[in-house]
Amino acid sequence: ELPRPLVIAVDGPSGSGKSSVSREVARRLGLEYLDTGAMYRAATWSVLEAGVDLADQAAVAQAVRDLDLRMGTDPAAPGVHVGSTDVAGPIRETRISSQVSAVATNLEVRAELKRRQRELIEGARDGVRSGVVAEGRDITTVVAPDADVRILLTASEEARLARRARELHGAAEAHHLEATRDQVLRRDRDDATVSSFHVAADGVLQLDSSELDFEQTVQAVLQAIAATVGTR
Ligand code: DC
Repeated sequence: ELPRPLVIAVDGPSGSGKSSVSREVARRLGLEYLDTGAMYRAATWSVLEAGVDLADQAAVAQAVRDLDLRMGTDPAAPGVHVGSTDVAGPIRETRISSQVSAVATNLEVRAELKRRQRELIEGARDGVRSGVVAEGRDITTVVAPDADVRILLTASEEARLARRARELHGAAEAHHLEATRDQVLRRDRDDATVSSFHVAADGVLQLDSSELDFEQTVQAVLQAIAATVGTR
C-alpha cells in the first residue's frame, strides 16, 4: 500500500506516451487523473469559438480567465466541458493541435491555468481518492514542484513520431511519418520556448520509453513510484 495523499507529476513531449500511461497509472493506483494539456486545448477551442484573435494576447488571456472550464478527473472517464458543452472530441482535432501553442505560450494564460491546476491538485489531495496523477509540460517544475513523485517521460524523436503517426493515421508508414513530423516537431519547439520538458529538472526522475511498449512503460512508472514513496 502506497502512502496517501499521493501526488504524482508527469511531464514529457508529445508522443512520449505520457497521457495514456499517466491515465492507466492513475486507474491502477485508484488516483484521480488530470490532463493539463486538455485544459490548454479547451482554452484554445473556446477562444476560437468566441472569435477572439489569437494574436491579441490581452483578449486571449481575458477570455481564459472568464472560461467556465470543468475538468473531469476520473481516469475511467476524464471529461472536458466548457459550460455544458462536451469538448472532449473537438479539442483533439488538428485545427486545435495546430493552434494550441499560440495560446499555451501566452504567459497570462499560463498563470491562470497554473492557478486552476494547483486548485484541482489540492482538491484531489483532499478528495476521496486522496491523490492525483497530473500530466503536462510544466507539472514537475512549475505547477507541482512539491509533488511526491516527479517523472519526465521521454522517447526518441523516431519513437515519438511513429506513435503519433499511428494515433493519427492508424499506421506509421513513411508518408504518415512525414505528415506528422512537421506538426509534432514544430509544436514541441514552440512549447519548449516556455517550458522545459526535454531535460529533467533537479530531483525529477527521467524515464525513456523508446524501447518500451505501453504495458512496460506503465510498469516502469509504477516501479518508480513505489521506489520513491513505498518505503517512506
Ligand atoms: O499534451 P497535449 O498535446 O494535449 O498538450 C496540448 C498543448 O498544451 C501543447 O501544445 C503543450 C501545451 N501544454 C503546456 O504548455 N503546458 C502543460 N502543462 C500542458 C500542455
